[in-house]
Amino acid sequence: PTQGEKLPLTLLIAAPRGFCAGVDRAIEIVERALKRYGAPVYVRHEIVHNRYVVDSLKAKGAIFVEELDQVPDDAPVVFSAHGVPKSVPAEAEQRKLTYVDATCPLVSKVHRQAERQIAAGRHILFIGHKGHPEVIGTFGQVDAGQMTLVETVEDVANLNLPEGTELSFLTQTTLSVDDTQAIIEALKARFPDIVGPRGEDICYATSNRQAAVKDIAPGSDLVLVIGAPNSSNSLRLVEVAERCGTAAKLIQRAYEIQPEWLDGVGTIGLTAGASAPEELVREVVDKLSEWRVVEEHTLTSAEETMVFKLPRELA
Ligand code: F3S
Repeated sequence: PTQGEKLPLTLLIAAPRGFCAGVDRAIEIVERALKRYGAPVYVRHEIVHNRYVVDSLKAKGAIFVEELDQVPDDAPVVFSAHGVPKSVPAEAEQRKLTYVDATCPLVSKVHRQAERQIAAGRHILFIGHKGHPEVIGTFGQVDAGQMTLVETVEDVANLNLPEGTELSFLTQTTLSVDDTQAIIEALKARFPDIVGPRGEDICYATSNRQAAVKDIAPGSDLVLVIGAPNSSNSLRLVEVAERCGTAAKLIQRAYEIQPEWLDGVGTIGLTAGASAPEELVREVVDKLSEWRVVEEHTLTSAEETMVFKLPRELA
């Protein structure tokens, strides 16, 4: 159609969406570290799983590395929001590096629970996704063999633990609320004495964003989730939309949207994972407005007021 014939498009924008308090704090930590220590400031792992965020911090003088041995002795280093194994701060101390830990306080809380369960003599079943940095960090709080990963309900049936093992469970913070519920039920059915947190350790931001998608997806023909392919909470938002019966796509930037995705589509649901900045939401709205006459509606399913304190050295 020519300019004058743009079709209407209803946009249902989920709220809450985008940045959580842990991501806000992690980015603020890198920015303050740059001001306090001057560039370059090293960051171990992507501070949060978003390329746009990482690129903007790179432009300000942050250097991203995967391991501590890539950090020179005289440079400050920040640990990412996902958390790190205990060996990482230990190595930093041994090398007398200046380091700031940007681990989300809700992840640190799980780390402390892990230590407590081990101290109480329990083996930990950890519900999470293999290979995710948060999982690596949490496993690194305890000795090898003290924690077993459980990814699915089938994994629960296949667990093979010595008779009489006292058990507890903990979870990753960015899981599917519904899947995790099913896994916890399977654990409790097989191990009635298992000790766990009340509910689970899925964070407020993860559960709020999933609930918000459940509000926008049923009325949408397509749901767009802004987030990175390695962002656990963003991937879960795509699944939640699909389970509502709505097609969903994960995009990192607006340019990835193909015009044919809009064929026959009258309503699009839009949300963003916890590591995706609001600028990228506006970018998507602008892109869609090039093709359609967009009418925006925000559906708010919860208000968020969470703010985390900065580490003392940067406050
Ligand atoms: Fe923390 Fe949850 Fe965000 S664990 S970093 S508040 S997604």
